[in-house]
Order: sequence, then structure tokens, then C-alpha cells
Amino acid sequence: MKDEKQKIPVHVAVIMDGNGRWAQKRGWPRIRGHREGAESVRAVLRACKTAGVKYLTLYAFSTENWVRPKTEVAGLMTLLSKFLKEQARELHENQVRLRTIGHIHDLPKSLQKELQRVKDETAHYTSGTLILALSYGGRVELTDAMRRIAGRVKDGALEPEAITEETIRESLYAPDIPDPDYMIRTSGEMRISNFLLWQLAYAEFYITDVLWPDFREPEFMKALEEYSRRHRRFGNIK
Ligand code: IPE
Ligand code: IPE
Ligand code: MG
Repeated sequence: MKDEKQKIPVHVAVIMDGNGRWAQKRGWPRIRGHREGAESVRAVLRACKTAGVKYLTLYAFSTENWVRPKTEVAGLMTLLSKFLKEQARELHENQVRLRTIGHIHDLPKSLQKELQRVKDETAHYTSGTLILALSYGGRVELTDAMRRIAGRVKDGALEPEAITEETIRESLYAPDIPDPDYMIRTSGEMRISNFLLWQLAYAEFYITDVLWPDFREPEFMKALEEYSRRHRRFGNIK
């Protein structure tokens, strides 16, 4: 149960890593790790509801992940479609809206359609927001933002001197979503792998050796407890 005094992050962003290693450790194909990882997504979604986390961003597929073997990429896309179909009902029940960030047009057409359908159907919900980062890269997001801003300058709609942090922020994929307060990475890698480069500027980081398929409610709650002990200073001395 939620401790009334516990400080809860408004927005948690997760690098769901370690599916392949989880499977390989057991002598199983990597895709089995991805399948088990989908169960962790469900578990973390439930935990967010219990704890009162309003926004959850999940790094599901990066721009860099396209270089993986064709069979693994195809398997991941199939799993994503399956996940969406199975999860849609729960999103409705819990009044959670679905959003996406990334180059969605790179995904298989059927998956794009399914994503659009669930996004449209859940757009009006306000209990929580699930943001899936798909074919997402932080550098590409910033590049897209620069292009948009340059276009406005070229059209004479914006003076270069008038460009502020706010101009950049509002040119990102999801400008209405508050920056993540907490970034969780599973499987121990000490890097951000091109995730939310702008938005993570002041996020607290939590890196655990637990592999994503083993990261269920208890692990998530443990991470939240750790967050409540963090002292965010934002450059101040207090
Ligand atoms: C994370 O698990 C899932 C995706 C990147 C899609 P990995 O597939 O990266 O698993 P490891 O890091 O190889 O164990
Ligand atoms: C980051 O994991 C991307 C996702 C979780 C979707 P990777 O496994 O792709 O990251 P690297 O390659 O180890 O940095
Ligand atoms: Mg990995």
C-alpha cells in the first residue's frame, strides 16, 4: 500500500533492458525474454496505478535497435501488436491514455494502425498516461526539433534571438508531458542509450542489476522507496 508520506515521482521513465540476457541465461531464444518482458510491463503498469505514478514512459524500441537480426526485430514487432491488443481493455478499465514518441512511421503498417486506434480511443482519459517510445532516439528527436525551429525561422515566423529553452521544449515529440522525475534502467548498464536526452536533464537515476523480465511490482516499489529518499537540489544548496 502507498505510504502517505512517501514522495512519489509524477513521471517515471524506464529503459527496459536485459530481456536477451534473461533468456540466454536459461539457454532459451532471446525472443522468449522479450515475451517475459511484456509481463513486466503489465506488472509495472499495475504498480504505477497502486502507487499513483501519473506518467510512465517505456523505452520499447530504439532507433539503434533496427540493426538487430531481422528475426528479432520482427519478433519484437509481433509482440508489440499482441501486447497492444491484450492491454487495450486494461487501459480502458483504468482510464489510462496511450501516447507514443518516436518515428512511428518506421513501424509495420498494421502496428501503426493498431497504435493509432488505441491512442484515439484512450485520448480522453486522465487517470494516467502510458508513453511508448518506439523507434525512438533522443538525438533524432532533437534533430527533428531543430528542423522545425529552423523552418519557422526561415518562414520569418521566429527570430533566432527569440529562441528559448521553451521554444526547444515545445518542438519535442510530447511537449505537454512533464519531464521524467525518475529514470529506471534494468540490467545494470550505466548509460542512457540515446533515451530522452533533453527531458532527463534533472531526473534522478536508478540502475539495478535485475533483468527486465524479473522486474515486477516488488522491484518497482523498491525503486520508488529509493526515490523518496533522494534529495533533489536543482542546482540550489538546500
Ligand atoms: C531490452 O532487452 C529490449 C529491447 C532493447 C528491445 P535487450 O534485448 O536489449 O536484452 P539484452 O540487453 O540483450 O540482455
Ligand atoms: C536500450 O537498450 C533500448 C531499449 C531498452 C529499447 P539497448 O539494449 O538497445 O541498449 P544498449 O545497446 O545496450 O546501449
Ligand atoms: Mg540491451
